[in-house]
Amino acid sequence: MSKPEMLDDLPTNTSDNEHFQAVVERAVSRRGFLKSGIGLSAAVFLSGSLSACTSDDNDDDETVEVPEEPTPLLGFQAIPIFTDDAVHVAAGYTATVFAPWGTPLFSGAAWKTDGSDNAAAQARQVGDNHDGIHFFPLTEGNSEEGLLVMNHEYTTTTGRATYAWLFGTPNTTITTLEQANKAIAAHGVSVIHIAKNTAGKWEIKLDSQYNRRITASTLMLITGPAAGDALLQTSADATGTSAFGTINNCGNGWTPWDTYLTCEENFNNYFGSTTEGDGRSAAQKRYGLSSGATSYGWEQFVDRFDYKKEPNESNRFGWIVEIDPFDATSTPKKRTALGRFKHENAAYRIGTDGTVAIYMGDDQADDYVYKFVSSGKYIAGNPRNNANLLDAGKLYVARFKAGATSGDFMGDGEWVLLDRDATPELAGFANQAEVLIHARLAADAVGATKMDRPEWVSVHPESGEVYVTMTNNSGRSTADEANPRLQNRYGQIVRWREAGNDPAATTFEWDIFVLAGNPVKYTDRNDLKSGSANVTTDNTFNSPDGLGFDKDGRLWIQTDGNYSNAGEYEGQGNNQMLCADPASKEIRRFFVGPQECEVTGLTFTPDSKTMFINIQHPGEGGNSHWPDGGTSVPRSATIIITKDDGGVIGS
Ligand code: FEO
Ligand code: CA
Ligand code: CA
Repeated sequence: MSKPEMLDDLPTNTSDNEHFQAVVERAVSRRGFLKSGIGLSAAVFLSGSLSACTSDDNDDDETVEVPEEPTPLLGFQAIPIFTDDAVHVAAGYTATVFAPWGTPLFSGAAWKTDGSDNAAAQARQVGDNHDGIHFFPLTEGNSEEGLLVMNHEYTTTTGRATYAWLFGTPNTTITTLEQANKAIAAHGVSVIHIAKNTAGKWEIKLDSQYNRRITASTLMLITGPAAGDALLQTSADATGTSAFGTINNCGNGWTPWDTYLTCEENFNNYFGSTTEGDGRSAAQKRYGLSSGATSYGWEQFVDRFDYKKEPNESNRFGWIVEIDPFDATSTPKKRTALGRFKHENAAYRIGTDGTVAIYMGDDQADDYVYKFVSSGKYIAGNPRNNANLLDAGKLYVARFKAGATSGDFMGDGEWVLLDRDATPELAGFANQAEVLIHARLAADAVGATKMDRPEWVSVHPESGEVYVTMTNNSGRSTADEANPRLQNRYGQIVRWREAGNDPAATTFEWDIFVLAGNPVKYTDRNDLKSGSANVTTDNTFNSPDGLGFDKDGRLWIQTDGNYSNAGEYEGQGNNQMLCADPASKEIRRFFVGPQECEVTGLTFTPDSKTMFINIQHPGEGGNSHWPDGGTSVPRSATIIITKDDGGVIGS
């Protein structure tokens, strides 16, 4: 979801600026990030003159072997910015629109261009505002047929209870429960059975047994340590163990036991009140609930969305929900052990002993990065063992520290345990359930590091290093090393390496992989606003958000930022997707989206030859007719990217 910049910059600290470029360039070699042979140094990569040498070179005077020329990790030509209402992808690739909002998954639910589809039809169609996405092959290694699972974060509103295009007519204010139910049905998750046809084109298997819509009213279980707690009990569920629906599903994750993780982000925006007076608790304020009417308007028609009538209902959102995509009758599970906050996405790593770590960001300015470490161990091929691994474990929050040297934009850090009985600062919480339900308050209490809006996290497939986007933070008033700019418009990507390369470690080392900036606008490269050395006038971007590694270790970076292409954002164009080489740190623009969209979510077929990404909220400001053209309403959609020679995407 876009969050426009609102404040002007303050002066930055010039003594930090002078050191920044050289320091960030040195960070890779000094800290040993990514020395594991998956790429070349920037200088070598750019000259193309040498392969990655191995340690047994030049021990004697034998005939010198000519090393094999390595294949560069980034094999495509960068593209420029675009500002038009179309998608653009690198030369030699094709981008195809797929499964836009309203696409029927079942017979009898055809899309109506006039917006007259009712709630029941919407509940059988692809939802709105596509976000996180994952391809599950139908059989192991199958790149021809699978389940495409995606989030539908929200539906665009333009005022109180007023929807931009959900009802066909622009800016429709809802007045009935049926209308609210259509909006409720446009949220959630789609499970879509897809396969390549005989011509090699991806198609939806209409009426497949796998097709499923999960919405903001689907029955779910609440599981883990907080299940049943008084704070989760409502008049509809005195047990505090079941909930209806999932909302504001932003980024996603998946597990090696083939489940999908959907992440509830800005759930606060759905809870309002229909009566005078504030009446919010301190915790509700910390989680961002607003008094009065919401822009979705559901509280007018469905009592549980009125926080005064049902004060605990909002505690049943803000979780990570685990879904078995292969069983359309399965009940999704809200995993309370992972904590409650505005979840962006969830990235797993498995330790050598089977310990499962899940890395998570809380997308709010000055909020935190978290890690869950399972008590049980993952066992490949043992679904019964793995089914509830996310129900028991330890929740940690990150402290990013300056390390031995201040001002060098790298340092060390610690994972602070959020445990009612083991963490002295949490003694005031009633029990561990309250710590999990009010995880933000617990993290405040232990002094976690306030970050520049933590968005997606991704784990490098070989090194295990963890990368996280900090999208921007226009309100930052105190800089620190991991968040080095006041009023940060452009964002950065921070990465860390766990001590001993152990995902269960409680300490880590970190550095900044890229400080996004605008060298078109800020030509003095010592100005932090020009970005780090790997940001150029050719690849400048703002607000990194979606993030993910492919199997070869390419880092795909998606943006959800300011698309004005003017002022502070001159030369940055529409939102886009770039690709980085983690070793050389080179970044190239690969794809640009249509007007007023964000580019979000990424996944591949097992052969890495089909990439699926999502275009969310094209025309959120009223200036797009993508993808249908003419005078049509804009529609969020998936984009299928293939390489024209049939090769691996990005190669
Ligand atoms: Fe839904 Fe943080 O973006
Ligand atoms: Ca430092
Ligand atoms: Ca996002």
